[in-house]
Amino acid sequence: MSNLSDSILSDAMSYTRPADISAKLAELREHRPICLIEPDDIRPYWAVTRYEDIRYIESTPELFSAEPRAVLILQALEEMNQARFGDIMGVKTLVHMDGEQHMALRKITRDWFMPANIVKMRGHVAELAESFIARMKDKGGECDFASDIAFWYPLRVILQLIGIPEKDEANILTLTQQLFAPEGFATEEKDAMTVFMECVQAMAEYFTALAEDRRAAPKDDIASVLANAKLNGEPIDPFTLTSYFVLLATAGHDTTSASIAGGLQALIQHPEQRQALLDDPSLYSKAADECIRWVTPVKHFARTVLADTELSGVSLKKGDTVTMFFESANRDASAIDRPENFDVSRKGSKHLAFGHGRHNCLGMHLARMEIETFLRLLLPQLESLEFNGEPTYIPSHFVSGLNSLPIRYKFI
Ligand code: HEM
Repeated sequence: MSNLSDSILSDAMSYTRPADISAKLAELREHRPICLIEPDDIRPYWAVTRYEDIRYIESTPELFSAEPRAVLILQALEEMNQARFGDIMGVKTLVHMDGEQHMALRKITRDWFMPANIVKMRGHVAELAESFIARMKDKGGECDFASDIAFWYPLRVILQLIGIPEKDEANILTLTQQLFAPEGFATEEKDAMTVFMECVQAMAEYFTALAEDRRAAPKDDIASVLANAKLNGEPIDPFTLTSYFVLLATAGHDTTSASIAGGLQALIQHPEQRQALLDDPSLYSKAADECIRWVTPVKHFARTVLADTELSGVSLKKGDTVTMFFESANRDASAIDRPENFDVSRKGSKHLAFGHGRHNCLGMHLARMEIETFLRLLLPQLESLEFNGEPTYIPSHFVSGLNSLPIRYKFI
C-alpha cells in the first residue's frame, strides 16, 4: 500500500508526477477497484479502475449518464458555472450529453472523421508532418519536442479542418491549455476558477464570430457545416453551437500531441522498439495505437448513476458519480496482455484510451493517422535520438501528458 492519498486522482498538480498516479491506480485496481473518494474541494466520486468495469459503464448509458457531470471539476466552479451558464460544466458538448440530441449532433460532423475521409487527408497531413520535421532540422539538433513540435502539428491539422486561420493557432492553443489545465495558469491575482471562466468566455466570443462569418460566406470546412446546421429545422442554439466548436478545437490536439510526445519518449526509452519499426515499416500503424495506449492522455470521464444498482458487488445509489480512469484500464493485466510492456507490434489493440460505446472518440481515426504519419516520416531520417534533460508534465487530471521533452538528435 502506498502512502499517497486517494484524492491525488482528482488533483491536477499530482499529474505532474505521473509515477505517483500510476502507483495509486495500480494499488486501487488491485485492492479497491471501486473506491469512494471524498476530496475537500470536489464532490465525492467512485473511482473505477478495472478494465471490465469501465467498459461496462461505457456500454450501459441507460444506467450511467454523461449528464450532468462528465468531468470532475472543483465544486465551487460547478456552482459558478451553474449560476452563470445554467450548467455545472460551463459547456455542453457531445461528451456532456446523452440520448437523441447527442446522436443528432454527432451526426452533423461524423462523416468528416470517418476512415473514408481520413484516407483522403493522408497526403496533406504528410505535408504538414514534413513541415514540422523541417522545423526540427532548423533547430539544429536540439529541441523541446513537446512544446516546439508536438503541441503544434495536431493543432494545425484540426484547425485547418475546422477552418481556423494559422494566425489564431497560438491563441487557440493557450485557450485549450487553460480549459484543460487552468491550475497551470493560476497566479496570485487570478485563481484557477477565474482562468477557467475567462477562457470559456473568450472561446464563446471567438466561435460566435467564426460562426457568423461562415453563415455570411460558407466555405468547405467544418465551421461552415456547424454554423449552417439545422436540428429539427432550427439552427443549433448559440450555447450548444459554441460548445461544439470548443470540443472540436480542443479535443483534437492536446490529446494527440500528448500521444506523439509520450510515444517518442517511449521510443527513446526502448530503442529496440524503434529498431523494430525501422526493420518492419508495416508496424507503424500498430505503433501509433500503442503510443496512444501507453500515454492514455484522457485521464478520466465521469458518469452519473441513473438508478440504484450494483457494480462488481459495490452498491451505487442514484445520483452518485462514477469516474472511469482510462489509464488504469489500459494497465489492467486481466484485459491487456503484458500491459507494462511498450510493444509496437501489439496485436488486436482493445485499449480504452478512446473510450468505448456511444461516446467513443470521434477523432480516433484522425489521431491514429496523424501519429502514424509523423513517426513513419521522422524515424527513418534520424541517425541518433536521445534525451537532453528532464521531462515535465501538464498539471491536469483531465487531459495530461508531457509539457516539455528536451531531446538531442542527428538527421542522416
Ligand atoms: C471523445 C480520447 C483525439 C474528437 C473522446 C473520449 C476520449 C477521447 C476518451 C471520450 C470517449 C468516451 O466517453 O467514451 C481521445 C484521444 C485522442 C483523441 C486519446 C488522441 C490520441 C481526438 C481528435 C478529435 C477528437 C483528433 C478530432 C476532433 C472527439 C470528440 C469526442 C471525443 C468530438 C466526443 C464524442 C462523443 O461524445 O460523442 N476522445 N481523443 N478526439 N473525441 Fe477524442
